[in-house]
Amino acid sequence: MSETAGKTVMLTTTPDDIARAAALLSAGALVAFPTETVYGLGADATNPQAIAGLYAAKGRPQFNPLIAHVATLDQALALGLFSSQALLLATRFWPGPLTLVVPVRPQGAVCELARAGLDSVAIRVPDHPVARALLIAANRPIAAPSANRSGHVSASTARHVQDDLGGRIAAIVDGGASPIGVESTILGCLDDRITMLRPGGLARAELEAALGATIQDGVADAEAPRAPGRLTSHYAPRHALRLNGSEIRPGEALLDFGGKGLPGSVPVATRDLSPSGNLTEAAANLYTYLRELDSIPSAGIVVSPLPPDGLGEAIEDRLIRAAAPRA
Ligand code: TXA
Ligand code: MG
Repeated sequence: MSETAGKTVMLTTTPDDIARAAALLSAGALVAFPTETVYGLGADATNPQAIAGLYAAKGRPQFNPLIAHVATLDQALALGLFSSQALLLATRFWPGPLTLVVPVRPQGAVCELARAGLDSVAIRVPDHPVARALLIAANRPIAAPSANRSGHVSASTARHVQDDLGGRIAAIVDGGASPIGVESTILGCLDDRITMLRPGGLARAELEAALGATIQDGVADAEAPRAPGRLTSHYAPRHALRLNGSEIRPGEALLDFGGKGLPGSVPVATRDLSPSGNLTEAAANLYTYLRELDSIPSAGIVVSPLPPDGLGEAIEDRLIRAAAPRA
């Protein structure tokens, strides 16, 4: 995959370099940039290919849902459904080190892979001049996990990002050290309660004072058990999903990988996640193909075995969640 080879360009914060960084993001490339909390590894949140490349570059063992960063409250409102309390928090604390998880707006632009199949979306308006300039120039939601490899600590300088991800991403915008140095506070705003999903750069007491209520502890998706989301559901196909199939049973549709097909009956429909056997391409196609097969009448969907390395494990994990019975 292209992100694993090649040189990472160091960019400054001049208007020319910001425009270059925005053009790279718009073209689907990965660009790290400073925010007031930590550096983020940015990718176009509307582009599943870009998001698959991001998961690959981070070496994430799972498709954790990502935070969509936007420049304005209006852009945030186009992505998610805000309760009156969520709107109060957004108005009071954005731009700033606060992420709100809200129900996704139907037709919202953040792609399903960036949401890891959840029907909620995490949104943040960062308060950093370079991040804001970049988001305005890119003019689209930018998914940005902390710019470190999975399992490493978050990066608060361009140098840290270079050490961790150099050679795997297109560019790093060097905007100096991130002033806060810890990630944003994440609040769940999925019903009429507000829950703490991750403590971070904005103190609980300040948030509770603004709300005039205490905040319950919630469970972030990343820590949730291997079951459909406890906060809100993952994409659940209507048809039964049979993983790691060795044969096609009568009436089944096939979700293939690597163009090899399976023995047995002729499938009622077939989609191949990646005929060439590329796992990044497979990740990018996952939700679209699952939905397409799910819309076709069948006795169920059988999935070909996936290699357990790289993104294969993450794809398998999401398929297991999709196949699990609803709570
Ligand atoms: O300060 C920050 O938040 C930084 C900067 C770059 O903005 N970003 C960051 O992203 O820390 P990341 O991906 O490292 O952490 C995002 C967390 C993950 O634990 C993820 O599980 C959670 O947000 N999250 C995202 N969407 C979610 C959702 N729909 N429901 C529950 N949790 C969600
Ligand atoms: Mg992180």
